Amino acid sequence: MNAIEIRNLTKSFGEKQALGGLNMTVPVGAIYGFIGENGSGKSTTEKIVCGLIHESGGSVTLFGKPHTDGDVRAKIGVLIEAPGCFPNYSVWNNMKLQAANLGVRNADEEIVKVLKLVRMEGAASNKYKNCSLGMKQRIGIAMALLGDPELLVLDEPINGLDADGMRIMREVLTDLAKKGRTIVISSHILGELEKIATHYGIVRGGKMLCEMTAEELDASCRTYVALQTKDMPRTKAVLGGKYSRVEEDEAGYLRVYDTTTPEEIVTHLYQNGILVGEIKTDKIGLEEYYIDLMKEGKR
Ligand SMILES: Nc1ncnc2c1ncn2[C@@H]1O[C@H](COP(=O)(O)OP(=O)(O)O)[C@@H](O)[C@H]1O
Ligand SMILES: [Mg+2]
Repeated sequence: MNAIEIRNLTKSFGEKQALGGLNMTVPVGAIYGFIGENGSGKSTTEKIVCGLIHESGGSVTLFGKPHTDGDVRAKIGVLIEAPGCFPNYSVWNNMKLQAANLGVRNADEEIVKVLKLVRMEGAASNKYKNCSLGMKQRIGIAMALLGDPELLVLDEPINGLDADGMRIMREVLTDLAKKGRTIVISSHILGELEKIATHYGIVRGGKMLCEMTAEELDASCRTYVALQTKDMPRTKAVLGGKYSRVEEDEAGYLRVYDTTTPEEIVTHLYQNGILVGEIKTDKIGLEEYYIDLMKEGKR
């Protein structure tokens, strides 16, 4: 079963078309990385899924039911933009307010449970305004988790987190997915997303450009041989005479994308009087895959 199935979704704000026939499929239990440039329609899609705004056209099905269905609505937890918290209230009291808003039963128990899930059980009595950004983002997720939702929609929840905050967030989201929850997470921090996502959707101009699983991404990410020598311009020229795709990367390595081996390259360069200082095989990651895809689209 799919947690989310979106077909031909459209949304206009007056003259401005934000979504132009977007399709999206999110299987139950997925951590779905929702990627795209600013203004491509991620937040708009997420808001429609959560019922915060209305679509102009198309269909949204959640767990096999229309997204307007009351039962299905109750299964969604959402963190889009910052949670509306009172700075002078404690974390606990802010959680109590949110629980009351949502009509959560056994609020105290539930709050203890969700604060524990996001590793914030020790901070319940802190004033919200004294919490770090990382803590605030986890409080937002804790709020989204009240009522034990099946589907979590998180819009840019890891922006501005430090390495520690990222790690905790990763653990929290992976734990939730293991428990069968479905998570949609939009982020432009692709390196982080890549560590946890099981599925990806890449949007552009209000349409889904492509969807794939983490395995599919892995399979379509090209491998290459990267190397350094003392004379990079000459090395580039020599390699360019034999291989069709030789490029310099940002770290100052020459990359050969053709099907070859480090041994073959070392031998070829040696025969041309060039000694290789360092050589390795590697694979492009989500970030480079994404950048390549965006470039292709613009051609
Ligand atoms: N309330 C709104 N009124 C007018 N235009 C909007 C509104 N919300 C979003 N948009 C426009 O819709 C497009 C998609 O925005 P959004 O979904 O926020 O993109 P993303 O989250 O991918 O950055 C943008 O061009 C944005 O300016
Ligand atoms: Mg957005």
